[in-house]
Amino acid sequence: IFCVIVVLVVITVVVVLALSLGHNSGGMKSAFFDRCEAFKGYDCQKVWDAFQQAYVGKDPCNVPMEAYDPLIAAGTFKPPCNRMMFWSKTKHVVHDFTAKRDCFFTLEDTLLGSVLDGLTWCGKEGSSETFTTDCPGWTECENNPVRSFWNRASAAFADVACGVVTAMLNGSIDTPFSPTSIFASIEVMHFNATRVRNLNVVLVTQEKPVANCTNASLKNLQKVLAEGIQYNCTEVAHSQIEECSNNPEKPCGACW
Ligand code: APR
Repeated sequence: IFCVIVVLVVITVVVVLALSLGHNSGGMKSAFFDRCEAFKGYDCQKVWDAFQQAYVGKDPCNVPMEAYDPLIAAGTFKPPCNRMMFWSKTKHVVHDFTAKRDCFFTLEDTLLGSVLDGLTWCGKEGSSETFTTDCPGWTECENNPVRSFWNRASAAFADVACGVVTAMLNGSIDTPFSPTSIFASIEVMHFNATRVRNLNVVLVTQEKPVANCTNASLKNLQKVLAEGIQYNCTEVAHSQIEECSNNPEKPCGACW
C-alpha cells in the first residue's frame, strides 16, 4: 500500500509539473500577487479577477483594449502631478533612473504597470487557463492581450496626466517621435490641456547624436499636441542622466 501511495504521489507531482510547464498559469498568478501585494490599498484578488476576465477563454487575437476597462477601474491611482514621466525607445535608461531616484513616476510605477511589466499572457477559446507561452507576438495581430493591455493602460495613464509632464525620447534614432509608438499613437492624444500645462521632452543623446530637438518627428509632435500645452525640448547626454541616477544627493531639478 505504501508503495502504491508513493507511486501515486510521484505521478501527481509529474502531471502537475508537466501541466504547469505547458501553461504556467500558477507562475503567472504568483508573480502577479507577489508584485501586487507590494502596493497598499488594493484588493489583489479583485484586481486578478478583473485582469483575467479581459482575456480568459477568448481568442488571443481578439482581445480589444476595452476588455481591460474593468481592470483599469480596479487599478486607479492618484496621479502625481508634475512628476509623471512618459518614454519611447528609452525603457532601459528611464527605468534605471526611476529605480535609483524618486524623481519621476512612470506607468511601470503604478500597480497595473508594475504587476504586468515584462510578462506575457493569453487565453484560449474554450479554456479557463492563462497561458504564458505560445501567445501572439506584439505585431502578430493587433488585438492581442498584451498589446491591448499596454495600449489601454497607457491611455489611462495619459488621461490623468497633470501639470508639467516629461517624456524621455531617444536621440540615437532617426525618428524619436515614432508614429507607431504607444507614446505617439495613444499617450500624446490623451493629454488634456485643462490638466497638462507643459510637455517637456528630454531627448537622450549618445556621444554621436542622430537626432536633436530640431528633428522632423518632433515638429510633428508639436503639431499634434493639444492646443494650450506648452512644449519644450532639451537634449541631454545619456551620461548626464546616469550621473543623476548614481548621485542621490543631486536634486531632481538639477538633473538637466
Ligand atoms: N514588439 C514587442 N514589444 C513591443 C513592440 C514590438 N514591436 N513595440 C513596443 N513593444 C513593447 C515593449 O515591451 C517595449 O519595451 O512596448 C514597450 C515600449 O515600446 P517603445 O516603442 O519603446 O515605446 P512606446 O511604444 O512609445 O511605449 C512606451 O507607453 O508603456 C507606455 O507610459 C509608457 O510612455 C511609455 C510608452
